[in-house]
Amino acid sequence: MKKTQEYLQNEKNRFLNDLFELLRIPSISADPSYKTDVAKCAEKVEYFLKNAGCELTQIFPTNGHPIVYGEKIIDKELPTVIVYGHYDVQPADPIELWENPAFEPIIKKTEIHPDGAIFARGSCDDKGQFFMHVNAFEAMSKSNELPCNVKFMIEGEEEVGSEHLGQFLQENKVLLTGDIILVSDTGMLANDTPSITTGLRGLSYMEVEVTGPNRDLHSGLYGGCVANPINILCSMISSLHDENQHITIPGFYDQVLEISDEERKEMAKAPFSIDHYKKALDINEVHGEKGFSTMERASIRPTLDVNGIWGGYTGEGAKTVIPSKAYAKISMRLVPNQDPETISALFQKHFESIAPKSVKVKVTAHHGGYPVLTPIDSIAYQAASFAYEKAFNKKPIPVRSGGSIPIIALFEKVLGVKTIMMGFGLDSDAIHSPNEHYGLFNYYKGMETIPYFYHKFVELCKK
Ligand code: BES
Ligand code: MN
Ligand code: MN
Repeated sequence: MKKTQEYLQNEKNRFLNDLFELLRIPSISADPSYKTDVAKCAEKVEYFLKNAGCELTQIFPTNGHPIVYGEKIIDKELPTVIVYGHYDVQPADPIELWENPAFEPIIKKTEIHPDGAIFARGSCDDKGQFFMHVNAFEAMSKSNELPCNVKFMIEGEEEVGSEHLGQFLQENKVLLTGDIILVSDTGMLANDTPSITTGLRGLSYMEVEVTGPNRDLHSGLYGGCVANPINILCSMISSLHDENQHITIPGFYDQVLEISDEERKEMAKAPFSIDHYKKALDINEVHGEKGFSTMERASIRPTLDVNGIWGGYTGEGAKTVIPSKAYAKISMRLVPNQDPETISALFQKHFESIAPKSVKVKVTAHHGGYPVLTPIDSIAYQAASFAYEKAFNKKPIPVRSGGSIPIIALFEKVLGVKTIMMGFGLDSDAIHSPNEHYGLFNYYKGMETIPYFYHKFVELCKK
């Protein structure tokens, strides 16, 4: 595999320039006004897949944004690795907090990335990460060291819930046969502490509307006499947690898989500094469910959070008004074996039941997703562990992440194919935030690690 690693070294600069081209396209899936940019980005991805050595590529349109597919089949008898990633990105807002424009990539040094990091929306989540796979594939392919078949499935709707990818899986089960799904869309603990993500949380995402009087009212004439939907909504929301930060929705914890004390002890070995954590976020104290550590709260426990709340007058100056309506977006992160549909239904029932007679409430469910757990005794995990150890000179630690990639559970359900998550981002890379970045070290280290995975995986498949 020497030639592959040499190839990666030699093409370093081009791989960076090519990534910059992708990062310049504002492929924001959530905002319909960027639809043509998303489509343009899909075409660019297809172009790079072709360039890298895919013998067949295709853009599959959906009722949302397109899915880019590419493959190189060298021998039907050999294993097949399916690479999944997403070329869509989150909106850049709040735009004024970016030090450099979000879609004009630039390299800057940081404390954590002394060798420099690529600053741009999508640099870490997920353009920089899926593009490492395109480059690693090119290096193996052009060096005649590709040990197996490869299929790429790069979607454009991950950040909006992968709404149309499920149907695509259903309709393309034959096209998508393979032995493992390889994903780089998560993180690791630190650049000197490699880790492999072995779990993701699921998600239930709700929107609530509370209606009081049939129109906005003068708060002097009516205040104190009719329910103010914002006041009511606030007290309803605050009742969703008790004083121990337990969620009060009846039945919410029924399906939660409790973790053995041994496993918790094992997890607690992962390096984590609460002081660094507080300092990085500029908070004086952490907050969360009683009886669990911050690491546990962020991974093995379910949560409920308000993502946005609005209503009434929020413009300049003051306006005295009792609004007719108040709204909130509320998400719940789920853990094995919680089911997003059950949880959404429990939320709806509970939220309706706690509404006072003075208001009407409407609850709707947005996208959701199942939690994921990947075993650490699989050959894919062994191959990934070997690959990290080879590239980082350190054995990676298994860790569960708090984030969600809803489609992953469906890979197994619909395609019957397991997933291995080899992420190279850091929590401090500010994904979804202003000034998102991805370390150059991480970008190149990822490309170096991936071919080791391929070779070890193929070797272990033969046994
Ligand atoms: N790549 C992230 C998920 C992630 C990041 C997992 C870091 C683990 C570590 C993904 O793009 C994402 O942002 N997912 C969303 C869910 C989606 C339905 C919008 C999330 O977790 O909020
Ligand atoms: Mn992502
Ligand atoms: Mn994301």
